[in-house]
Amino acid sequence: MAEVQRTFVAIKPDGVERGLIGEVVNRFERRGLKIVGMKLLKVSREMAETHYGEHKGKPFYEGLVSYITSAPIVGMVLQGKDAVTLARNVIGATNPLNAAPGTIRGDLAIEIGRNLVHGSDSPESAKREIGIFFKDSELVNDWTRTVEKWIAE
Ligand SMILES: Nc1ncnc2c1ncn2[C@@H]1O[C@H](COP(=O)(O)OP(=O)(O)OP(=O)(O)O)[C@@H](O)[C@H]1O
Ligand SMILES: [Mg+2]
Repeated sequence: MAEVQRTFVAIKPDGVERGLIGEVVNRFERRGLKIVGMKLLKVSREMAETHYGEHKGKPFYEGLVSYITSAPIVGMVLQGKDAVTLARNVIGATNPLNAAPGTIRGDLAIEIGRNLVHGSDSPESAKREIGIFFKDSELVNDWTRTVEKWIAE
């Protein structure tokens, strides 16, 4: 049974630098996910280390922290049925080389170190990541879209 979930999605510095904010947001909007939080921010080293803690010690870790802190990102909280998996499918495989055409990475990126977008990998990760990037007061919790019934039963 599909469950209404929230997920944390970020347009990484390469997406912002390349002028792809609108293109990326559009893909999630068109799919039917509801945006309940969104902001442009510069990620601090501390936030990056918390967010990517699971990768500490890996060969790409320092490069990853420097990439994510190098220019602003756009952080978003998206809500919908199965939002975590849905968003990951819209984003595509981690390595853009293997990402299917039609996905963000499959259409707009070519290598893993510049893969444009982040998406939480589980509802638990989503909760943790939303807490890193958003205060509860920055999320819109009291809004039912009028189109909702045309998107999900
Ligand atoms: N081998 C690698 N070389 C360079 N960067 C990497 C490598 N593996 C992962 N990364 C970077 O670390 C990020 C986090 O890796 P993870 O395994 O969580 O992939 P993901 O869940 O598909 O991506 P994300 O968490 O960004 O949505 C990747 O999106 C990529 O930017
Ligand atoms: Mg991940």
